[in-house]
Amino acid sequence: MNIEKRTHYCGELNKNNVGEKVILLGWVRRQRDLGSLIFVDLRDRSGIVQLKFSQEKNPEEYFVGKKLRSEFVIGVEGEVFFRGEKDINPHLPTGEVEVLVSKMEVFSEAETPPFSIEDEAIINEELKLQYRYLDLRRPFQNRRIQLRHKLTQTVREHLSKEGFIEIETPFLTKSTPEGARDFLVPSRLRKGTFYALPQSPQLFKQLCMVAGFDKYFQIVRCFRDEDLRADRQPEFTQIDIEISFPTEKAIMEISERLLLKVFKEFSFEVSLPIPKMSYKEAIERYGSDKPDTRFGMELKSVEHIVKEGNFGVFLKAIENGESVRAIAIPKEGLISRKELSNLEEMVKPFGVKGVVAIQRIDGKPKGSQVKYLGEDASNRILDFMRVEEGGTALLVASPYLSASTALSQIRLYFGKLLKLYDPSKHSLLWVHKFPAFEWSMEESRWVSIHHPFTMIKEEDIALLEKEPEKVESIAYDIVLDGNEIGGGSIRIHNPDLQKKIFKTLGFTEEEANQKFGFLLEAFKYGTPPHGGIAFGLDRLCMLILCCDSIRDVIPFPKTTSGLCLMTSSPSEVDQDQLKELKIKIEKE
Ligand code: AMO
Repeated sequence: MNIEKRTHYCGELNKNNVGEKVILLGWVRRQRDLGSLIFVDLRDRSGIVQLKFSQEKNPEEYFVGKKLRSEFVIGVEGEVFFRGEKDINPHLPTGEVEVLVSKMEVFSEAETPPFSIEDEAIINEELKLQYRYLDLRRPFQNRRIQLRHKLTQTVREHLSKEGFIEIETPFLTKSTPEGARDFLVPSRLRKGTFYALPQSPQLFKQLCMVAGFDKYFQIVRCFRDEDLRADRQPEFTQIDIEISFPTEKAIMEISERLLLKVFKEFSFEVSLPIPKMSYKEAIERYGSDKPDTRFGMELKSVEHIVKEGNFGVFLKAIENGESVRAIAIPKEGLISRKELSNLEEMVKPFGVKGVVAIQRIDGKPKGSQVKYLGEDASNRILDFMRVEEGGTALLVASPYLSASTALSQIRLYFGKLLKLYDPSKHSLLWVHKFPAFEWSMEESRWVSIHHPFTMIKEEDIALLEKEPEKVESIAYDIVLDGNEIGGGSIRIHNPDLQKKIFKTLGFTEEEANQKFGFLLEAFKYGTPPHGGIAFGLDRLCMLILCCDSIRDVIPFPKTTSGLCLMTSSPSEVDQDQLKELKIKIEKE
């Protein structure tokens, strides 16, 4: 069989092809032997079509057809026939037709796969990743990867049309701090030195602006050694954008046009215009800088009420300058003792020690702490939080940010549990006006909330030395249904200001020069004001295709512990390789 002469993909055939001679190539999905007739479902990346082998019409092919098993790779020549009204399969796009095989070749036989190559197969996650190529052969999974291709193509075409130039930047490079650890690559030629895989192409895209490209984009792999979750992988893809002479507004508009184009392509409905919210407001109302604004349940501070009661924990917290914050749970979310202790477990990682519940029953406040808080204050809390009959107010005491973050987790939990939003409706939000720095307990120094190259408000420059916590950056994140799908900023283009920021971050002049001297050097030779944004392509794709994890839209993903189960990496390497690099492994 001439395999170059494939005429169609299986899923393309329909009634219009009846009478045509076709050549198809693909995998046997299953074979059904009905005596003198054999039916085979043939699958390729486009779908499935039914093949018919007739003992009467083509005895030779019929006998080979009898031996076909699932996942054999075959090629067939044949004619397309209408199946007849009563044999139409309404569940299959090609269900009106079948191909009567006149010639067949078996290219490859197959052992029984470790799981069934069907959409509805329930497969253990580890097995799925170990045999990812078989998982990807399943039609819906295969389609997801094809849709990812459509997404990247849409982005590429759209940005090219808008005058952006796609520029590749190096993978073997110097570390760019984005808040995670670097993956290091040892150099053979300069022993004892290392490249870092880029956490993002941040500095290179800025250098592209110095080079005069004006509008850059790249669909680029980034590498971050951080704790993994359903929306994080150690290597992931960004849609990375940078422009010269920007304003925050201009970058938001570029982003919105791009997202609209993509959403339209996938019939993904979002309401416009995209609202903007300051970081401060987002934390105050939702306890999160990436709030899911599809539902209410907003947080409130209640110090002014609880300070009138006698609950020692709250009084002490207020005395220590901490906050007491609350959230109202509707009556459907009735909270048992057990549930309350589950919620306490949920908030522990945020440094919150306990959760106080006050319920409104028969119009009166109920709960084990009511006697300390006082009936009057408890009632006022219920009123202030607008808790309805049967509903509950949950209160936590902690420093403002940790109390807010803890309640935001509770909010998300009940939002999902009580189905407070329609999952088919989506909500986009810009969060901006972020503080530039936060104090890192771990490192005992100020660290950038975005990255050290983020522009700050001009009037805040004077605060850098004494009150860095008050400095606001010109940075913005875009949030879709509570997921951060992108983030960016206007950049610093003045070397003196950049040096001041490095100083605030605790770098000595020598350290700053050693790490970022090349950037400071570049800034000396005429640097346009510039800024940009990067979208998480995997996250965007996951949300558009309604998947639960970014693993579903990454062809060959890692487990949550960073392993590739298919290739068993990371793995040990030959002693010779290590010797050549002059690397010794310390035994634990
Ligand atoms: P940021 O760190 O916000 O910005 O990253 C941009 C977007 O990339 C996605 N993302 C991830 N996706 C999957 N796995 C991960 N581990 C992961 N980490 C981040 C998120 C995020 O919004 N250089 C800046 C961009 C800029 O300033 O232009 C940057 O990398 O969706």
